[in-house]
Amino acid sequence: MKNSRIAGLGHYVPSRVVTNQELETMMETTDAWITERTGIKERHWANVPEESTSYMGAQAAKAALIQAGIPEGEVDCVIFATLSSDYFFPGAACTLQPHMNFSGNIPAYDIRMQCSGFVYGLQMADAFIKSGMYSRILLIGAEVQSTSLNKSTAGRDTAVIFGDGAGAAVIIPTDDPDNGILAHAVHAEGKYAKELWCEGPSPLDNPRVKPVLDDVNRYYPYMNGRYVFKHAVTRFPEVLKETLDKIGKTPADLDWFIPHQANLRITEAVGQGLGLSPEKVISNIHKYGNTTAASIPIAWSEAISDGRIKRGDLIGLAAFGAGFTWGSAVIRF
Ligand code: ACO
Repeated sequence: MKNSRIAGLGHYVPSRVVTNQELETMMETTDAWITERTGIKERHWANVPEESTSYMGAQAAKAALIQAGIPEGEVDCVIFATLSSDYFFPGAACTLQPHMNFSGNIPAYDIRMQCSGFVYGLQMADAFIKSGMYSRILLIGAEVQSTSLNKSTAGRDTAVIFGDGAGAAVIIPTDDPDNGILAHAVHAEGKYAKELWCEGPSPLDNPRVKPVLDDVNRYYPYMNGRYVFKHAVTRFPEVLKETLDKIGKTPADLDWFIPHQANLRITEAVGQGLGLSPEKVISNIHKYGNTTAASIPIAWSEAISDGRIKRGDLIGLAAFGAGFTWGSAVIRF
């Protein structure tokens, strides 16, 4: 059976930078509060409608394909992870296609696993490669969240955290059993769905879309921050160890740990809990905020571009997010 190799990575972030100081002009918050609680100094906001989720995903995908040396026309499957597709339906894997030069009508899968979307997508891609179904898979994580945040003081606990951006990976088969995606694990615990969610528009409403919104708060994300924090610091290390166990490795064997960029305090607590030196833990949340499904591929792609991550490195990924969902993958890059 083939292994799945990461042939290339790419990322794209909008040019508009929004600093904590700019947020201070929109809501009652301070740079000091945001920095101390989250580690975030600035984030990027998309220039919509041009910089849509699928447009940004396409830019990241093109960069990943160039790094992989694979023409767009060879891609035979798209997996798109996002909670913020351009439209309620169809999903971003389809609206991506006009931005790309694919040949033929290749299959398009959307996955809605929020912050864990990229890790879930890696597992799906690995299964597709191992089954022989596809051999040139484009996995994208991309988000435009800035347009759906409550930017008043009432929404400050979420508005300061989330940012926009896109990352992508090209996944192909390899005969080398020691290379590529070596192990993964994913989980979900839906009983906590309402601790981090966006309720509207819900098909359970009758009618689903009302002429006048009766409660605008149902259309903004809600997060029980402390509850999320508590679960995240447990699940990140637990699932990474579960994945490493499958291949007889420990955290000490990792060259790099790339956690989903949820919050600097979560990243630091998890890194310390795993006994990893801070230099091995990739963090860029100060620049981008939490970009949900895009955060791992952006961090990974950036660390390749600046020369930190090299071919042959052993990399651990872990993510936790809305659902609750969580997962991990270990890759010999
Ligand atoms: N600026 C200033 N004050 C704020 C802000 C803000 N942006 N947001 C909340 N506050 C206030 C609150 O209103 C509260 O005021 P009060 O004491 O008068 O009631 C006070 O700050 C403390 O609020 P808490 O929610 O208790 O603050 P906490 O220390 O828990 O920090 C945070 C909040 C940062 C959300 C924290 O709970 C956290 O990091 N949670 C993890 C969630 C997370 O990282 N989510 C990311 C998305 S999910 C994922 O990716 C895994």
